Amino acid sequence: MSRSRSPFTIVGIVGARPNFVKIAPIAAALAADGRLHLQLVHTGQHYDAALSDSFFADLSIPRPDINLEVGSGSHAVQTAEVMTRLEPVLDRVQPAAVLVVGDVNSTIAAALVAAKKGIPVVHVEAGLRSFDRRMPEEVNRVLTDQISDLLFVTESEAITNLHREGISPEKIFLVGNVMIDALRGHLKRATSATTTLRQAGFSLPERFAVLTLHRPSNVDHLGTLTRLMNGIAGIASEIPVVFPVHPRTAERLSAAGLSGILAPPSFMLLPPLGYLEMLGLTSSAALVLTDSGGIQEETTALGVPCFTLRENTERPATVTEGTNTVIGTDPARLLAAYAEFKTTGGKRGRIPELWDGKAAQRITAILAKKFSEVE
Ligand code: UD1
Repeated sequence: MSRSRSPFTIVGIVGARPNFVKIAPIAAALAADGRLHLQLVHTGQHYDAALSDSFFADLSIPRPDINLEVGSGSHAVQTAEVMTRLEPVLDRVQPAAVLVVGDVNSTIAAALVAAKKGIPVVHVEAGLRSFDRRMPEEVNRVLTDQISDLLFVTESEAITNLHREGISPEKIFLVGNVMIDALRGHLKRATSATTTLRQAGFSLPERFAVLTLHRPSNVDHLGTLTRLMNGIAGIASEIPVVFPVHPRTAERLSAAGLSGILAPPSFMLLPPLGYLEMLGLTSSAALVLTDSGGIQEETTALGVPCFTLRENTERPATVTEGTNTVIGTDPARLLAAYAEFKTTGGKRGRIPELWDGKAAQRITAILAKKFSEVE
């Protein structure tokens, strides 16, 4: 068995904010190893500087080789645009594999194009299941896993899910969590909460909570959003809530006429933050309230209590082992959980297996073995 002279190419796909965090350690590990070449394709699903460019800078991600510039649209339009624009790229590059991360529309779109062309699909963060098919991300996860050839998982429950769905065990690898690789690699460089708040004209409170909210199921329905924000306002009357607002949520909050209750000192509203700013805030928060997936994992890694404002989580290790509690959106439940947090100080948790900052190295070793050696 001899090794090829020129490194083989893997096309890596990123589209939305959490994808950038996941590709960063993989790009770095592949470059350090040198046997495979990563060609990076940005679909353009997220295009605002605050949701995209700043992440490339903060995480030292190589400039994308190609930007498909799909932008926003309905799920069908966004998915279809990624597919149509990616196909000629794959025809030209003829990669050894296409690597997709996470569960966004760009993930399934790229996986589908590659699979139909007979190009091996590598899915990083496979096997997570909320068992709620109303979430667009759940549909994206289930379908991407079905057409993937290598599935890298972050926690053991994901393996059980994949076995149940008939995926052969030899395709599945428990490698740890690349998002936690990024966190460990950048924590020392995180922007201090003082600096981030000062830049927005606020001073640092002694203790504060951080809130993020962007799920369509939470923000797109006026009634749900209003109820949820009323519950959160109850907490904000006791501990200031720092709230970096996603563009989708900003639009919905003002349409719902909720801007009035979101005033200082209870609420400190910020624009969407860069990776290092967000890391600085979450790592020094007393409590995090979120409907994000990745933040449930980051708070577990940081040992910061997290209330998940959804009815379920696809990341059960954050609950069984970490600092996460699934609260839902009922204000009474939220306030009861906060009362308990005040007396106990919140869940302390432990770090799940292999969330040690080396997941991307494990992925690289497996990819290099499979794709850089020729008969
Ligand atoms: C997407 C992902 C979600 C992920 C989130 C992270 C899917 C199905 N959802 O949700 O899993 O957690 O990204 O943020 O892929 N917008 C801007 N600027 C941008 C991008 C979007 O203003 O750069 C606004 C547009 O009004 C757009 C809306 O945000 O319609 C929603 O964007 P979209 O990419 O459809 O989904 P997200 O809600 O961001």
